[in-house]
Amino acid sequence: MINEFQFKFSSEIDPGKPLVFFVFADIGIKSQNMFDESLLSQLANNRDFTGKTGECLVLDIAQDNIIRTYVLMGLGNSNDVNGSLIRKSSGNLGRLLRNNNINDSQCLLPACDLPDTSLDTYAGNMVEGITLGLYEFSKWKSKITDSNKKMFCMDIVSDSSPNIEDAIKRGQSVSRGVMLARDLVNSPANRMNPTNMSETAQSIAEDQILEVSILEESDMANLGMESLLGVSKGSVQPAKLIVLEYNGDSDNPDNNIALVGKGITFDTGGISLKPPGGMESMKGDMAGGASVIGLMRIIADLKPKINVMGIVAATENMPGGNAQKPGDVVKAMNGKTIEVINTDAEGRLVLADALSYAESKGIINVIDIATLTGAMVVSLGKVCTGYMTNNQLFGNKLREAASISGEKFWELPLFDEYDDLIKSDVADMKNTGGRQAGSITAAKLLEKFVGDMNWIHLDIAGTSTSARTDGFDVKGATGHPVLTLLQLVMDMSQD
Ligand code: BES
Ligand code: MN
Ligand code: ZN
Repeated sequence: MINEFQFKFSSEIDPGKPLVFFVFADIGIKSQNMFDESLLSQLANNRDFTGKTGECLVLDIAQDNIIRTYVLMGLGNSNDVNGSLIRKSSGNLGRLLRNNNINDSQCLLPACDLPDTSLDTYAGNMVEGITLGLYEFSKWKSKITDSNKKMFCMDIVSDSSPNIEDAIKRGQSVSRGVMLARDLVNSPANRMNPTNMSETAQSIAEDQILEVSILEESDMANLGMESLLGVSKGSVQPAKLIVLEYNGDSDNPDNNIALVGKGITFDTGGISLKPPGGMESMKGDMAGGASVIGLMRIIADLKPKINVMGIVAATENMPGGNAQKPGDVVKAMNGKTIEVINTDAEGRLVLADALSYAESKGIINVIDIATLTGAMVVSLGKVCTGYMTNNQLFGNKLREAASISGEKFWELPLFDEYDDLIKSDVADMKNTGGRQAGSITAAKLLEKFVGDMNWIHLDIAGTSTSARTDGFDVKGATGHPVLTLLQLVMDMSQD
């Protein structure tokens, strides 16, 4: 099934359509003036509907010989409600409506004071939650074509919020970017190689708001990116360094941030070959790069006052006849040398050059996003993204953004003592640190390529995919951490 969505604002209730309500555990339904909720409250109470989060109820009520459907969405205490909760609950709501064949409904926004933010924002969060919660990756199912497209329509009704239309547009734009990131991650590696990725980047730059440049292997060789090119040597697919630029504050070039994504379109491990069990999941080893491309698309729509550079280091990691070998020494763009102990620790090798590139472009703030280490899945599971930073103030900004987006992050340390683990006998460093502190030693290598930039490293090995459908996540690619990075960029554009 291919979903097609239509969200719009309405200032009136349409008596012919199913009607969705927010219900709070403490204050019940607080409908706007246009609806008398007494009968509905009574019915809800009879069914023991308490309004706690996650609770949903579909009621068919006959009135004057007409049956009308009402849908109640529990949101917990009204004082605790926030945008992220609305987004999550809306994910579940969207699937409930779809499962009940309710494909054209209205949602009546509440008429009470809710904390933190405006009803408009909540309307946008609903659009995101429903759209992302109903996301399906069905491109390669031959029975599913455009002709069985299924429409999902919802009017968001309010008599007091004039800016809902803008919020809906924004929610649609955010969803589009997150879904683009998901599509890239879910795509099989024979259909999403470095060239395909660079074409996707070019296609989102067609509206002229983004500038795109694709560095070819010869360009990278001229820049001295031996560390990145060492990884691509084993593959017949040419590596691409994808650079997307958005200049929202050209008068202040230092007001900038770079987002650097790991774009390994398939990670076999190279000569240090991975075992076959589950290797297919390594088609998603470009999730960091995918989130950069998805995010740049949203930024082009929302146009914040800040300069944003998106960089994706795209290559396969293959064990071809020309592949690099354990023991090889490569020299990165910034002149530092790395002994390649394990060719499966390739993410840090491509990021070393991508980060050096960002520094050479005068970047002040940089965030790299990478499915970098299996060790991160061991330590934090699939619940939160592990982050490491050389600047606590920058880290605090990430946490603030995350408190609004609802995505979870947890910091790991970068103590000097960990440097010992990646000391090499023959080069400036080696690319693995043995069994101890695997996620930290990976970040320790990256740290040597960030120079004076304020830097955050995000290891999304666990969070880039979900094992189950829940809230606005569906099984497969999640699109994390696009929502948080968007919030962070928007916050920074207002500093
Ligand atoms: N892409 C993997 C990390 C990964 C593992 C991502 C599981 C998602 C799920 C990365 O390139 C890798 O292979 N890392 C090695 C590093 C080791 C050789 C030091 C790992 O984690 O085993
Ligand atoms: Mn690897
Ligand atoms: Zn990898």
